[in-house]
Amino acid sequence: MLDLPKEVSKSWFNFDHFYSDTIFYNSLDIVFSSSPNKIMDIGGNTGKFTIEVCKYNKDVNVTIVDLNKQLIVAEKNIKTHGFIDRVSFVEQNMLSDNIDLPKNNDIIWMSQFLDCFSEKEIEYILNQLTEVAHKDTRILIVELFWDNQEFEAAEYCLLGTSLYFTFIANGNSRMYSEKDFKKIISKTKLNLVSQQKIGNYHTLLELRLKE
Ligand SMILES: C[S@@+](CC[C@H](N)C(=O)[O-])C[C@H]1O[C@@H](n2cnc3c(N)ncnc32)[C@H](O)[C@@H]1O
Repeated sequence: MLDLPKEVSKSWFNFDHFYSDTIFYNSLDIVFSSSPNKIMDIGGNTGKFTIEVCKYNKDVNVTIVDLNKQLIVAEKNIKTHGFIDRVSFVEQNMLSDNIDLPKNNDIIWMSQFLDCFSEKEIEYILNQLTEVAHKDTRILIVELFWDNQEFEAAEYCLLGTSLYFTFIANGNSRMYSEKDFKKIISKTKLNLVSQQKIGNYHTLLELRLKE
C-alpha cells in the first residue's frame, strides 16, 4: 500500500478500516475472557486492533504478522502510541510454503483477513495454524458474512462491496457467505466451537484444534 499515491492510499485505508474499526473495541471483552498473555494478530494491517488490545490490558504481548510494507506502517503507529515494548513484528506471506510463526499463542486473531483469499487458500492458511496453535489456543476470526445480515440492504451492500473488493485488491478477495465459510472450516484440522454476532453486522467465529 505504501506504493500507492498518497490520496489513493488514504482512500484505500478509509475503505479498509471502515469495515472493521467499529468492532475492535466491542471484541475486547470476548478476547480477554480467557486472560490471554500472547496474542497473534495476523493481517494486523496498520496496527489498529493491536493498539486497542494494548490499551485494554497493560500486560499482554502481541505479535503482528503481515507483509513487509504493512509492517512498516504498523510499527510506526505502535511506536507513536508507546506500545513498542510489547509488540513484535513478523514478516510472513501466509501463502508461502514455509510458514514460520511464533508458537504458544493464547489467541490467534484474524479480522477480515481470510476474506482476502480463495477457498483453497483459506483452507491452506487455517491448516498452517495447526502448527503454531496448542490445544487451548483460541483462533478468533471476524468476518462480514453477507448471508448473516439482519437487513436486506446490508446484504446487498456487502455483495456490492465484494465486487469492489475483488477488483481493487488481489482478484481473490470477497465477502463470503457464512455457509461457504463453514464448509471451508469443515475441511480443515480445526473445529468451530462457537459463533457470535459483534456489533450489527460482523460475526466472530472461534476455532480450536481438533482433539
Ligand atoms: C483487509 S486487511 C484487514 C486488516 C485488519 N485485520 C482489519 O481488520 O482491518 C488484510 C490485511 O492482510 C494483509 N495480507 C494480505 N495478504 C497477505 C498475505 N499473503 N500474508 C500476510 N498478510 C497478508 C494485508 O497486508 C492487510 O494488512
